[in-house]
Amino acid sequence: MNFTYFGHASFHIEMDGTDLVFDPFITPNEKASHINVEEIKADYVLISHAHFDHLADAEKIVQNTGAKVISNYEIVTWYEKKEVKGHPLNHGGKWKFDFGTVKYVNAVHTSCLPDGSNGGNPGGFVIWNDNACFYFAGDTALTMDMKLIPQTCPKLDFAILPIGDNFTMGYEDAAIAAQFIECDTIIGCHFDTFGFIEIDHAAAVKAFADKGKKLILPGIGEKLRV
Ligand code: NI
Ligand code: MN
Repeated sequence: MNFTYFGHASFHIEMDGTDLVFDPFITPNEKASHINVEEIKADYVLISHAHFDHLADAEKIVQNTGAKVISNYEIVTWYEKKEVKGHPLNHGGKWKFDFGTVKYVNAVHTSCLPDGSNGGNPGGFVIWNDNACFYFAGDTALTMDMKLIPQTCPKLDFAILPIGDNFTMGYEDAAIAAQFIECDTIIGCHFDTFGFIEIDHAAAVKAFADKGKKLILPGIGEKLRV
């Protein structure tokens, strides 16, 4: 699979020919000014929770591409009022799409839509097909619920975890999360976008290495083969 980082918690994964965009927050992110939202391909836009820094460009991408939104019930219902089609999930539930199975899993965080509407409870996604399985945690604290993932989903090939601290777990807790989810390859996100979440890259990589885990800190616009 091909992974392209758009900064913050935003990225694209091409999964066997299907274009998945996660938590698009690009045009308001000065550090991602070299990413052209108009060029982003999407069949589905997956939104972990309702905060602005996870959905700012969702509507624009849907308008450009005709993509469907996959998120929790409250967020999908909010988009349906704007004539955006979606597939609602709720925690613990999974659905088999044409590209693979998506399971919506717990996150410990908050979730309120930009207009003050209820964004439901925040979550993350575990996504798999016959070729691969990965986890995107969304914004979350370290939580014991992460231990359920290896018990209920196929073995993870990689995971995308927030590591920036302050609003989510920091890299120390994220390294423990990597142990809970039994995954050796972690892509960090939700770091360096603004002052509260700037991190020491070397210390973050070391926190994971000390536990036998590999932390990748992608540059904005960087593509990875995962
Ligand atoms: Ni958030
Ligand atoms: Mn966030």
